Amino acid sequence: MGEQEPYWSVLSADEYKLVNIQGRLEKFYESGWESFHLLMDTLQRNGLDKKLEDKTLLEYGCGVGRVTNVLAQKFKRVHAYDVSTPHLALARQVTNSLGLANVDYVAVQSLRDMQELPQIDMAYSIIVLQHNPPPIIRLILESMLDALKPGGIALFQLLTYQEGYSFQADEYLSSKRPTQIEMHVLPQQRVFEIIADKGCQVLEVLDDALAGYRKGQLSNTFLVQKR
Ligand SMILES: C[S@@+](CC[C@H](N)C(=O)[O-])C[C@H]1O[C@@H](n2cnc3c(N)ncnc32)[C@H](O)[C@@H]1O
Repeated sequence: MGEQEPYWSVLSADEYKLVNIQGRLEKFYESGWESFHLLMDTLQRNGLDKKLEDKTLLEYGCGVGRVTNVLAQKFKRVHAYDVSTPHLALARQVTNSLGLANVDYVAVQSLRDMQELPQIDMAYSIIVLQHNPPPIIRLILESMLDALKPGGIALFQLLTYQEGYSFQADEYLSSKRPTQIEMHVLPQQRVFEIIADKGCQVLEVLDDALAGYRKGQLSNTFLVQKR
């Protein structure tokens, strides 16, 4: 995807397919500001929007840097993780073109890379976790919450319900690779358990439109704080 349709793989609208992208890249990257403002509104409601310029943020699944490069203009340092090196290369180009020098891009190549995250003030992940099978969602969530300093904040989005969805690891591993983008679910109850296990408290859970408000589907954004 990173090689064939990098922008569409981030925002799946036809206008972001490579054949149509000319003249639309600005709009694509402008949408990063919308995501940033949503984040800020959520932080502000909870009195957590202060002194961002002193804080470090980890973005898990940064894609082509749509939000990353906005975050880098507001936070002291951004650690941006992604599994796709072509996505990271495009993200880095934008960072360089903006003259930003405070983003560390990391290519995730193994489970260990997902588990060894640096200590940070804030973790952020949207439209990423839903593309991973539930055991990997759990691993990433645990790792992001482990990485938070005391009082640190995490905002992350995932699918918590999809009508008819079920997951069996052995079936999944023995089945053919799907040709479409995979969508997976971790129920709210499991997410709450992980949050509690990692010594964090829930500040907000929001219904969001990040998976498209499809019928029979629930996508949630969680705001949590490490105790
Ligand atoms: C739909 S894009 C969203 C990118 C970015 N969060 C944004 O909002 O613009 C999903 C990204 O997550 C990355 N991704 C998915 N699963 C991942 C994993 N387990 N580890 C690291 N990156 C992952 C993909 O490579 C892709 O770049």
